[in-house]
Amino acid sequence: MSDRERAFPEGFLWGTAISSFQVEMGRGKPIDCTDWWAWVHDKTNIDVKRVSGDTPTNGPGFWELYDQDFEMAKEELASNTIRLSIDWGRLFPESTRDVDAKVRRDLWNNVWEVEVDKDAMDQLSKKVDHDAVERYREIINSAKSHGLTPMVTLYHWPIPLWLHDPIACRDDLAGTDKKGWLMQDTIVEFAKYSAYVAKELGDIIDLYCTLNEPRITSEHGYLTERGEFPPGLNDPSLFLLCLKHLAIAHGVSYQQVKRWDQIEASSLGPATVGIVAVLQTYEPNDPKSPEDVWWAKYIDYVYNEWNLNAVFRGDYDMNLNQMVEPWEQMPHQVKGCDYIGVNYYSNWHVKHKGQEGHPLLDFEFAPCTGDCTDYGWEIHPKGLRHVVNWAYQRYRRPIYVTENGVADAKDDTRVRYLTSHLDELQKAIQIDEVPVKGYYYWSLMDNMEWADGYKVQFGLYRVDRKTKERTPTKAVKIFREIASANRL
Ligand code: BGC
Repeated sequence: MSDRERAFPEGFLWGTAISSFQVEMGRGKPIDCTDWWAWVHDKTNIDVKRVSGDTPTNGPGFWELYDQDFEMAKEELASNTIRLSIDWGRLFPESTRDVDAKVRRDLWNNVWEVEVDKDAMDQLSKKVDHDAVERYREIINSAKSHGLTPMVTLYHWPIPLWLHDPIACRDDLAGTDKKGWLMQDTIVEFAKYSAYVAKELGDIIDLYCTLNEPRITSEHGYLTERGEFPPGLNDPSLFLLCLKHLAIAHGVSYQQVKRWDQIEASSLGPATVGIVAVLQTYEPNDPKSPEDVWWAKYIDYVYNEWNLNAVFRGDYDMNLNQMVEPWEQMPHQVKGCDYIGVNYYSNWHVKHKGQEGHPLLDFEFAPCTGDCTDYGWEIHPKGLRHVVNWAYQRYRRPIYVTENGVADAKDDTRVRYLTSHLDELQKAIQIDEVPVKGYYYWSLMDNMEWADGYKVQFGLYRVDRKTKERTPTKAVKIFREIASANRL
C-alpha cells in the first residue's frame, strides 16, 4: 500500500482513555464510598493476594490536575478527544433507593422500563453531591476548551457501597441486601443515576458509554479462581446473572440518557449512546485437540458474543447452550445502542482442563509464550482488525476503539504495539470498510490497575506518585505524529 493510502477518515477521533477510580484520587479527599474502595482496602483480600495492597489514594490526582492533563493531551499528543468516566459514588454517596421512579416489569419479573420523571429528578437533586457535579462540569468544560470531545462512561466499575457491599457478599451472600449487580434494584438505581447525569451535564456531553466491559465485571467478580474483582465469588450461575442484569441496565440507561439529554453540545447531535465491549480473540491452545477447539469457540461465544446478542437482539441464552429458546428471547429488552465501543488488547490460547463440572470452569488460558506484555498478554495486532470486522458485520453499528494499549514498564514495546495495532485498524477501515470513528489509547497515564495496582503500567505518560509529575514515554511522539497527520 502506498503512503498516500494510509490515511484515516476525515474527522477521525484520536484520543486516550482514563477512568475515574483509576486516576482521580491522589490529592485531596479520597472517595471511600464505593465497592472498589472497600475491596482494595480489605485486609483479607490483601493477605490472600486477591488485590495488591495498592490503593487509589496514591493515584495520579486527576481530580485536581485535569486541566494540565488535557493541555498535555492536546499539545503533546495532538488528541481531539478524551474518554473519561463519572464516579457514581461521588455523585450519590447516599442511597437513592427511596426516590420514586416508576418501574415496569416484564412477564419474567425482570425490570423492563424505568421512568425517571420530573418529580424523581427533583428528589435526586436533593440527594446529589452538587460539588461533585460542578467539578465534573469543570472537568468536561476544560476538556472542551482544549479541543477534546468528551466521551463519557457512566459505569466504569465502582458502584456505591449502599448498593454493593462486596465484603459482605464475599463472606455471606445470602446475609446481605447489598448484592450489587446480582440485584435488579441496581438496574433501577442505575437508570436514575444515568438520567441525572444526562439532565445535569447533557448540555456539554454528546457521546456516552453506558457500561464499560460488562463481561469483565461478571467474569472477574463471579467466575475467576483468584476472585480479584468485587465480590470475588466463583459461580457460573452468578456470572450469568450479572451479565444478564448488566445487559438490561444498558437498555434502561440508554433510554434515560436519550430522554434527558436532548441538547446538542456539538455536531455529533444531542446524545450518541453506546456500550463498551471487551472483544478479544480466542484460539485453541492445541489446534489438533477437539476439546481445545470446542472450548475456544465456546469462550468466544460467552465472552465476546453473549452480551452483544442480549443488547442488540434481546437473546438471553441463560443455559449457555448456544441456542436461544423461546423463554430466552426478550426482544422487549432491546432499547438501542448507537455504536459499539471495542476494547481490544490481546489473543488468548484456550486449553481444556478436563475436569468434571460446568464448562465455564473447565478451561484455562495457557500462559503467553510468544510476544508477551508485562501482564502476560500476547501481542497480536491482527486481532484488532478481526474484532472490529466481526462486531460491525454482525451488529451493523459504527465502531469506536475505546481502549487498546500495553502494559510496558520498561517502555520498550509501546511504540511497536501502538503502530502495529493502528496499522491493522487502518486496514479494517480502508480495505474492509468498517466504519471506525475513533481510537482511544489506554491509557493517557499510568494509573491504579484495579486489583494489581501500580506495577502494571499502561500509560503514555509515567506518573511520579509523590510529585504527580507526568513524563512522556517514547510513544508520545509517534502518537502525536500519527494523530496530527491523521495517517500512518
Ligand atoms: C479496563 C481498564 C483497564 C485495562 C487494562 C480494561 O479492561 O477497561 O480499566 O485498566 O483494561 O487492564
